[in-house]
Amino acid sequence: MKKTIQTIRGMKVKGERIACLTAYDALFASFMEDAEMDLVLVGDSVGMVFSGYDTTIPVTVEDMIYHTCAVRRTMTSPLLVSDMPFMSYQASPEQALKNAGRLMKEGHAEAVKMEGGRRIAEQIRLCTESGIPVMGHLGMTPQSVHEFGGFKLQARTREEAEHLRKDALAVQKAGAFALVLEKIPADLATEITADLEIPTIGIGAGPGTDGQILVTYDMLGLYEKFKPKFVRRYLEAGKEIKNALSDYIHDVKENNFPDSGESY
Ligand code: KIV
Repeated sequence: MKKTIQTIRGMKVKGERIACLTAYDALFASFMEDAEMDLVLVGDSVGMVFSGYDTTIPVTVEDMIYHTCAVRRTMTSPLLVSDMPFMSYQASPEQALKNAGRLMKEGHAEAVKMEGGRRIAEQIRLCTESGIPVMGHLGMTPQSVHEFGGFKLQARTREEAEHLRKDALAVQKAGAFALVLEKIPADLATEITADLEIPTIGIGAGPGTDGQILVTYDMLGLYEKFKPKFVRRYLEAGKEIKNALSDYIHDVKENNFPDSGESY
C-alpha cells in the first residue's frame, strides 16, 4: 500500500506507531520496500555513513538529488522524504523553495525535511503553501553540531525545554506534516507529542513519540565509528562483512577458491 503524508498523519490519529529508517541507495531502498517501511528518509547522514565526513555539513543539494533518485528507482510504497542539506534553506524562504523544488523535481522526493524551529518557520510556510510537504526536525539537529559543541543531548534545562516546545508549535503552525525529535529527554518528547496534532518521530527521544527513526547503517552495525546509547543494533553487519572478507582472502591465498563447482 502506498504511504502518503495523509497515511502518516492518520497513523497518529489511529494510535498506530510509525516505523521509519534511512536509505541512500537502490539496494537498501528495495529492502525498505520489501519490509513495508512506513517512511524512508534520504538523510544527510549520508555524508557521514556513506561519504566518510565527520559531520553532515559538507553534503550538497546535488548529493541529495543523486541519492534520492537512487532510492526512488526501487522503492514506491514508503513515503520518501529527502533532507535539505546545510545552507540550502537557512538563507531565505525563497532559497528553501528553490532547493526543496529541486529535491522534488530532480530527486523525485515526496517531501523534504528541514532542521530548525521558529527561525525557519517562514521557509516551512512558503514550501508547504507551494505544495511541498515538509517534515520538521528539532533537538539535536546535526547541522548545528558546531553551535552545540558536539552531538550532545539537548533541552536539558527548563528554559531550553520551553524554547523547544515553542519551536515545535511553530513548526506545526507553519504547516509541517510531521516532526523529528532528536536526542532530547524522553519526558519532554512525550509532552510535545501530546501537545501536537502532527506526528512526532523520535530518535534518542524515548518511547513516547508517535514513531521512531534510526540511521539504517547504525542499527545494522555497519557504521562502527561511534554508537550513541539510543541506537539498538539489530545486526552486527560490519563484523560479519569483515569476517567474510578475511575468509575470501584466506581462500584465495590458499587456492581454495574457486573450486570445480565454481569453474567452467
Ligand atoms: O540525516 C538523518 O539521517 C536524519 C535522521 C533523523 C536520522 O536526520
